[in-house]
Amino acid sequence: METFELIVNFENLPCNFPYILVRCLFFTILVQPYILFPLLASQKFFIEIILKTPLTTVAAFNSLSHTNSQIFPQGAKMSMHKSTSSSSLGPGGLDLTQAFFKPISNADPPSPTKRHTKITVVGVGNVGMAIAQTILTQDLADELALVDAKADKLRGEMLDLQHAAAFLPRTKIQASLDYDITAGSDLCIITAGARQIPGESRLNLIQRNLSLFKSIVPPLAKYSPECILLIVSNPVDVLTYVAWKLSRFPANRVIGSGTNLDSSRFRFLIADHLDVNAQDVQAYIVGEHGDSSVALWSSISVGGVPVLSFLKRQQIVYEKETLANIHKEVVEGAYEVIRLKGYTSWAIGYSVASLVRTILRDQRKIHPVSVLAKGFYDIDGGDVFLSLPAQLGRSGVLGVTNVHLTDEEAQQLRNSAKAILEVQRELAF
Ligand SMILES: NC(=O)c1ccc[n+]([C@@H]2O[C@H](COP(=O)([O-])OP(=O)(O)OC[C@H]3O[C@@H](n4cnc5c(N)ncnc54)[C@H](O)[C@@H]3O)[C@@H](O)[C@H]2O)c1
Repeated sequence: METFELIVNFENLPCNFPYILVRCLFFTILVQPYILFPLLASQKFFIEIILKTPLTTVAAFNSLSHTNSQIFPQGAKMSMHKSTSSSSLGPGGLDLTQAFFKPISNADPPSPTKRHTKITVVGVGNVGMAIAQTILTQDLADELALVDAKADKLRGEMLDLQHAAAFLPRTKIQASLDYDITAGSDLCIITAGARQIPGESRLNLIQRNLSLFKSIVPPLAKYSPECILLIVSNPVDVLTYVAWKLSRFPANRVIGSGTNLDSSRFRFLIADHLDVNAQDVQAYIVGEHGDSSVALWSSISVGGVPVLSFLKRQQIVYEKETLANIHKEVVEGAYEVIRLKGYTSWAIGYSVASLVRTILRDQRKIHPVSVLAKGFYDIDGGDVFLSLPAQLGRSGVLGVTNVHLTDEEAQQLRNSAKAILEVQRELAF
């Protein structure tokens, strides 16, 4: 529009030499290409550029060099909408997709060649971003929506990921403070969590996380009523129960990442001990993701060989203490990483990505994850979520594996359930 006004003004200028020179220059630089190019290519495309380029280019440069609040002083929500797609140049921007390609003759309208997959990650802290980047590198989503409560951090993380587009499988990455951006997600992963304040009780932390979940779960459920909820925030078992209650989803669609990570640590340590590949070790940690977790020694196998019964048959003596120490290392593994680097991120990123792949690609693999465990192994006392080896697929939890537990292991599992239920009962819902 401004360009158009400029042309009109030039028409009204007096006809002395300097103005003639300026007019010639103006014609050569600006007007001539617009006369020639339409002859060579699509008229619509170049006429749009003539009319809109000055304005949209300025907007684009502004968006690169200014913070959101400078562009959209009216509010953070608006500014985050502006940042949801780096390809959008804002209101009135060019729709280059229409102009760039012409349909071939005699063609049907384009149809999707595969099912579109959308994943939401709530919380773009250390864990959320490790999950997001693993999802991107493993090509697990067509669309990734990020939500957090901190506008600048959120926009920064979104742009940082978008700038890697040339090196990654194509994924549309968006971010917003508003949950409408999550609409139509297949899977919503919650990693948002309050951190423990020094001196704060565990229960108080849980109570704070409960309030946080009250602001997260209902909007996710509203915008993606068919999605699967995958909870990562701690204490993961209690918060998975909370998410189940708040969402009112069927239990098969609410899953906690649970001891999938603990079991990976367990497999790594056993593999290290036996000098084999961790992927050849079948071993589960079940129960609470935390101190009362249970190591299922009786079902460990390496390359299909049950380890404990093999050792017994070969009359190889093993110290029970060695086993206890390995389990202790699993439980304390997270604390050690947090002590050393401040947080855990890479292992949980890969752990969650493995769950995402199994669920969205309907792999029907078995993972130890937090599921509604009432009724299994005589667990009673109420609705409780804890980890059991569960088969996962496109509809969430397909079933729980009937793995054999010794009497001691089953009792430990029930104790774990009791510990979680005690915390749950104290929650002011
Ligand atoms: N289940 C597991 O195996 C496992 C492993 C590691 C960490 N975790 C848990 O994951 C959670 C995240 O850990 P982290 O290291 O990423 O923490 P972090 O502090 O780095 O990130 C938390 C993020 O949540 C965001 N947030 C806070 N309130 C929010 C709200 N109301 N809405 C949206 N976002 C909000 C914060 O802004 C922050 O970006 C913690 O609860 C941690 O204990 C779980």
